[in-house]
Amino acid sequence: QSLKNYNTFGISVNAAAFVDITSVDQLKQVIQQNNNKLPLFILSGGSNMLLTKKDVDALVLHLNTKGIEVVNEDHDFVWIQAQAGEIWHDFVFNTVDRNLGGLENLSLIPGKVGSSPIQNIGAYGVEIKDTFHSLTALNLETLQIETFANTDCEFGYRESVFKNKLKDKYIITSVTFKLKKAPHILHTSYGAIQQELDIMNISNPTIKDVSNAVIAIRQSKLPDPKEIGNSGSFFKNPVIDKKLYQSLLEKNPDIPHYPVNDTQVKVPAGWLIEQAGLKGYRKGDAGVHTKQALVLVNYGNATGEELINLAKYVQATVLQKFGIEISPEVNII
Ligand code: EPU
Repeated sequence: QSLKNYNTFGISVNAAAFVDITSVDQLKQVIQQNNNKLPLFILSGGSNMLLTKKDVDALVLHLNTKGIEVVNEDHDFVWIQAQAGEIWHDFVFNTVDRNLGGLENLSLIPGKVGSSPIQNIGAYGVEIKDTFHSLTALNLETLQIETFANTDCEFGYRESVFKNKLKDKYIITSVTFKLKKAPHILHTSYGAIQQELDIMNISNPTIKDVSNAVIAIRQSKLPDPKEIGNSGSFFKNPVIDKKLYQSLLEKNPDIPHYPVNDTQVKVPAGWLIEQAGLKGYRKGDAGVHTKQALVLVNYGNATGEELINLAKYVQATVLQKFGIEISPEVNII
């Protein structure tokens, strides 16, 4: 089975075995039948990974379980559960349509619900940890379903326990969010949201308006994987020492930054890459996106190897120019 259509970078590799999973019972059965013969490879939206091997010598489990359900409700909040295989953006739309607030800033993020907690997806000043209530996950050793509350997940910036000590130990099967009924608390101060609402001539925005503004901004900067292969931000924004930031500031008075704590700040990797002269850089079919330098793209037939080489070149160039190490955000497989 070719995985080209199952990873948003559009890398062409074959899987040793491939099963489309539509229920948790089937998931357990398939894992039991495999009986550790082949290693397992959990494929969700394929939107945050770069396949670099010639082939995937594993049993690929394509998570395709569906269902969105209100599981609890009180005067102010609704607890809504989505199965792992729901498309993230469809789920956000569904909640915005129900006029439930909390996920609107996360509109149009590629991927599926089940993988959203693994790296605590975030955009425009909001992360899922802000409204995440709990998740269910299959323990791969016991084949029992377990529940994780928000604090169990140890969320951080693009981090969770599932990327660290529990890596490869669980398959997330559903996620529950606690979303707010009207009146809503909007997050419009980050980036260009307010500017976009002004352009749209909206003075009293609803969550639908915020969602639309986010969609417009994303569409103007981020390449659509259906047109140009990519995995969103390829690198994380590095956290650096305030002293280093101060010295960079002298030479670059307009360097953007976000506060982290008393001694550290976060600087946008996209800005560093652009200032290093690499925005729009291209080698063969592997390139740095022309409108957002944090995104690496596959113009057609780039291999995982070529993209990795490009990533290394970008890292080395940024290190040389600024003395800052940037590390990948996507999973390199
Ligand atoms: N910038 C540049 N040149 C570029 C790109 C960015 O100068 O080519 C500057 C911008 O002008 C701005 C700053 O860098 O001052 C930040 O840019 P932007 O708001 O576009 O956000 P980002 O830091 O590049 C992060 C997330 C994105 C998320 C946006 C919006 C990470 C690794 N990336 O990008 O997430 O959509 O903020 O919240 O934190 C993703 O993870 O796949 C992703 C797209």
